[in-house]
Amino acid sequence: MIPMKDLTSHFLLRKDIHFLNFGSFGATPGPVFEKYREWQLLLEAEPVQFIAFDGHQYLANSRAALAEYINCPDPDDLVYVTNPSYAINTIASSLPLQPGDEVLSTNIEYGACDRAWDFHCNRKQATYRRQKITLPLVSKEQFLKDLFAGVNERTKVLFISHITSTTGVILPVKEACEEAKARGLVTIVDGAHVPGHIPFDLSSIRADFYTGACHKWMMAPKGCSFLYAEKAYQQMLDPLVVSWGYRAAKPSHSQFLDYHQMTGTRDFSAFLTVPACIEFMAAHDWRKVARDCHDMVIGHAGRFFALLETEPVSPLDDQWIGQMISIPIKSPEPEMLQRRLFTQFRIEVPLMRQEDDVYIRYSINAFNDEKDLDALHAALAEIKSEGTLIR
Ligand SMILES: Cc1ncc(COP(=O)(O)O)c(C=O)c1O
Repeated sequence: MIPMKDLTSHFLLRKDIHFLNFGSFGATPGPVFEKYREWQLLLEAEPVQFIAFDGHQYLANSRAALAEYINCPDPDDLVYVTNPSYAINTIASSLPLQPGDEVLSTNIEYGACDRAWDFHCNRKQATYRRQKITLPLVSKEQFLKDLFAGVNERTKVLFISHITSTTGVILPVKEACEEAKARGLVTIVDGAHVPGHIPFDLSSIRADFYTGACHKWMMAPKGCSFLYAEKAYQQMLDPLVVSWGYRAAKPSHSQFLDYHQMTGTRDFSAFLTVPACIEFMAAHDWRKVARDCHDMVIGHAGRFFALLETEPVSPLDDQWIGQMISIPIKSPEPEMLQRRLFTQFRIEVPLMRQEDDVYIRYSINAFNDEKDLDALHAALAEIKSEGTLIR
């Protein structure tokens, strides 16, 4: 891949770090961060006008830009929230689950969401079922077969990641939602890693609920995500934080917006940067950037599997892999290994556990080049030769 030098200069990341963990919290480019500061300065110049009055229109403009970008026909079906955990908690706490009902999911979900579902299901005496998915993934059909083997007469809901966190794979959510709907289930998709990462058309997935992070691959400042709810479900959602939007003195045209947008005083400047993120991506042909990054991810994967003597968790193609890949690694102490990679080798890369397995996941974005992966490979080879932190 040709290093995208002109793009590298836009990022605010430390230059002395091999930054291979874009997946966790993204990284905001300078022009977007400038816009963020502009919004914050405008807020401070007249907090009352900004927060209590003009903010509604600013948010509506930003939601309209996001809706166009992700192909959501009605921007009023979207509301900004700080993060996907907030969105999932909003949905899970509101769903009218009865004792004995089941929420079907997979055993490769994000830990924070597993916790949220466990918490809310426990409260309602319902069951959160983490259906075992066979790894390596071999086909959509096999995945769907594994998943829907977990359905029974008590199943009411499907919850599934669009791109998984620890294993870093793109799941066939469109097909999963289609089948779930045919079985009468409510469909909820966690697309934290999706917008700005892989081609994304919200309306084609036809999920009842979808959450995505804008502060990851769309590069917004931290704390910028969205919740989509299909119109028929909007009335069902209670506010997670009850504030002026609940039984609003002057309700707007949408209870959904009142409940989830008016959640108390906060700085919502990050939400307003979304149009700037979209402009930044368009100005730099982000489709091509994403493709080049994907090619680099795949192009280097083989030597990591060879070094670590493990196998991919899915076919290595663009049906399953975007700009990040997780490689199984035999490490008895992944937290220590991650720390050592950072302190000794200045490599920022996550090591994550999923049940009994450990993965190292590298992400590639516009500021990376081959040298980052060369550095990771050399560091892992050196540590492995010692025979303790990597077996
Ligand atoms: C699959 C997945 N879901 C949800 C999240 C969101 O986490 P949070 O709400 O802490 O931002 C992440 C973050 O990495 C994720 O990978």
